[in-house]
Order: sequence, then structure tokens, then C-alpha cells
Amino acid sequence: MPEEKTFHMTPDEFRRHGHAVVDWIADYQTRVETLPVLSRVKPGEIRASLPGAAPAQGEPFDRILADVGKLILPGITHWQSPNFYAYFPCNASGPAILGDLLSSGLGVQGMLWATSPACTELETHVLDWLVTMLDLPRKFLSTESGGGVVQDTASSASLCALLAARERATNFASNQNGCGGKLVAYASSQAHSSIEKGVQIAGLGRRNLRLIAVDGNFAMRPDALALEIEKDRRAGLIPCFVCATVGTTSSNAIDPVPEIGRICREHKIWLHVDAAMSGTAALCPEFRHIHEGIEFADSYTFNPHKWMFTNFDCNCLYVADRGSLIQTLSVLPEYLRNKATESGAVIDYRDWQIPLGRRFRSLKLWFVIRHYGIEGLQYHIRRHVELAQQLVDWIRKDNRFELAAPAPLNLVCFRHKGGDEVNQSLMDRLNRSGDIYLTHTRLNDRLTLRLCVGQANTTARHVKRAWQRIQSEAATIL
Ligand SMILES: Cc1ncc(COP(=O)(O)O)c(C=O)c1O
Repeated sequence: MPEEKTFHMTPDEFRRHGHAVVDWIADYQTRVETLPVLSRVKPGEIRASLPGAAPAQGEPFDRILADVGKLILPGITHWQSPNFYAYFPCNASGPAILGDLLSSGLGVQGMLWATSPACTELETHVLDWLVTMLDLPRKFLSTESGGGVVQDTASSASLCALLAARERATNFASNQNGCGGKLVAYASSQAHSSIEKGVQIAGLGRRNLRLIAVDGNFAMRPDALALEIEKDRRAGLIPCFVCATVGTTSSNAIDPVPEIGRICREHKIWLHVDAAMSGTAALCPEFRHIHEGIEFADSYTFNPHKWMFTNFDCNCLYVADRGSLIQTLSVLPEYLRNKATESGAVIDYRDWQIPLGRRFRSLKLWFVIRHYGIEGLQYHIRRHVELAQQLVDWIRKDNRFELAAPAPLNLVCFRHKGGDEVNQSLMDRLNRSGDIYLTHTRLNDRLTLRLCVGQANTTARHVKRAWQRIQSEAATIL
């Protein structure tokens, strides 16, 4: 019998090309600092450089890889540059990339325990580790009433929490009947837009989201929350979900979780805590005050893909009562029935998330935690906070600039005193230069620059240079 024709890459070819790709990434890591951080291409430019139709015949791998450098790299904004200070970090690291590669190599789809027991059990184990590492309440442990699950993003995590809150508030009837327009959710006016999106998707209706007023530090005002809840109750509505943010997107404000938690407890409302970026800081005992009041939370989420050196995507969601989440999200068709599920002895994470399928994401998280150890993670978090605080000090000493909000951790919000136009022009010029990349927000209706120190390889020399570039560009504008 002649060998059957195949178009696949053989294991030997994979080994050779795989080495080339790893070399490519290592070279990229070495030189990323020298590349303009913000991509300079114009809309449509990358597409225009690509062939109009897919190749009829397969192409040599070397040519494909060469095209990454030639055609793709110009359209990359370098999130892994140490000069990246925009939005929030989306940091990666060697162990995370290799863990992700192994996850791809194993090609596991971990929807059920039975479809790959290690995928489920490693996830449960690593998420329990993180409860201890962040000093979260024991109720979030899988060995207690709750448990953790890896999701793609904080947006999905918050949506799952909101759905569970919706079901709990309606005695698990709204999955069946719809939610009838009476359920109300609350978050501060500074909460992430994913909460608004979640409220829309969950069927509460955007008009049933109350954006609660904030104080002078942009943190939720518990008195305003209590008033809104009482008003809604009097109107016959059903308050079901409050999202408190630990580290808001705009300014890193930390909502007063203890007071918010007490209000939620009094009114039997689900409290969700969104600590997307800042939660990671709790790896260091000196920053654990950010989680004060967390014992009131029904759910909690943070993103290792933001500040814990684990490349996108990797979010952790914890719930205090896994029963509520599972009852909300579980649908069991015949083709997924199996003995392990029926035994009740295993976790099927498909019941803890929106999609059915799931990647083996905990592998990269396990690699990161084992490679750095708690000590290594703490070292880099402390360093980032220290560098941000150094920048705060420099801003305070330059009377052309002012701080726009407190900087409790690694995000610095500041502005030039010359007004919105000056700040816009300053930011545009800095970003166009390619030397650094930072983004903006509006605080008290004034354009504010945000500089977030969190990229894995940002060091003192980079932050010093960033400040020098900001100062010199400001001098040029004026
Ligand atoms: C406080 C907060 N919550 C949620 C998110 C959304 O994160 P994700 O992209 O993982 O959905 C962000 C992103 O910036 C955030 O800052």
C-alpha cells in the first residue's frame, strides 16, 4: 500500500519550525524596547499588504514566519514593551508563554472533568493556591462552600456573577421565566463598562443599572448606594447585585467594600468585587488593605492577565457559594452525560462559565506561579508600585503638573496645568514619538493622563526616561 498523502506538518518539521518560532519570540523580547510602542500604520494598511485570496497550495513555513516580521509586526502595538504605560498592562512572561504553548500542544478541551481530568483538577488546585496567596476568605476555597474558576476575561466573570445574583434573587426562576424588569443592579459611576454590558446581556435592562455617585477620590459613596437601594425598594423593584471595584479603570479608586458589604448584607444583595488589575497587589501583605471587607463578597474577580505575568487570556472568578453559580449556568444535554458527572465527585467547569468549551488555561498560571514563586511575584509587584510612587513624587515637584487622583498602587493620573488642549497635544506627541505609550481619561471633566506601571520588564530607567520625555515634550509645546 502506498503511504497515504498528508499535508500535515510532521513532528520533525514541527520541532524545527517550533525552535525557529521560540527563537523569534526570544529575539522579539530582546529588541521590543527599541520598537515604537504604538503602531504607526494607518487604517487598512495591514490588510492592503496581504494577498487578496488564500493560497491554493501550502507555503513553506520559513516564508510564513518571515512574513510575520514583514507584514504583521508593523501593525503591532507593543504591549510587551517596557515603555508601555497605556490602559492597563497585559503582561506576558517566559513561563506563561511556554505554558500556553504546552496547552496548545495538548490541545485539550476541558468542558467536563471527564474530557481531561488534569485540566479540571489543576485549575481547582491552582485557584485554591491563589486564595492563600492573596489571603482571600476561606469561603472561596473549593474545599469549602465556594471555589474558583478560570475565565477568559473579567467581563465574562462579572457577567457570570450577575447571572447567579439574578437567579438567587428570583429563587432561580428567571432562567425559566425571564426577569420581568424589576431586578436592579448597582455600581459606581466609575465602574468598568463591562458591568453595563453585563446588565444588558443578563436581561435586567440598562435602565435598571444605577450608577452610584463617587466621592472626591472617585470611590463609591455608600450613603448614595443605600439611598438608591431604598428608593428602588419603595418603588417595588428588587435590588439584586452590587459591583464594588477595587482599582477602577480610570483612576484606580478603591470602593469602600466594608460599608458597601454591610449594606448588601442588610438588604440580602449579591456583592461582586471587581479587582481586575489591582487584586494582584494583594500578593504583598502590605497591600492587602485593598481587600478590606472582602469577607462580605459573594464573588470576586481579578485578572492574572493584567498584572500577574500571565499572558492573555486568564481571569480568575471566585464564588462563595458554588451551588448558586452551578444552578444558574448548568444545562445537561444527553450527549454530555457521563459517570463521573453523575457520581457528583467531580467539578465540570462548563457549569461555571458561559461557553461550553474551555482551554487549559491553568497550565500557564501554574507555570508562572512555580517559576516566580510567591517571592518573585511579590518582588515585581513591589517594584512597579515603587516606580509609580517615584513618578508621583516627581510630578509633585514639578509645578507645571498636578496629580489628578490619589495613586494607591501603580497607576498615576496626572495632568499639565495648561488645560485639555495642552494635555491632548502632549499625549499625542509622546505617543507619536514611539518612545512611550500612555492613554487618557476624564476626571472631574478634565482631560487626565494615565500612566500605569505594570509591564513585566519596566524598570527604574524606563520610568525615569518616560518622565524626562513628558517634561521635555511639555517644554516644547509651550
Ligand atoms: C476594573 C476593570 N474591570 C474589568 C475590566 C475588563 O477586563 P477584561 O478585559 O478582562 O474583561 C477592566 C479592564 O480594563 C478593568 O479595569
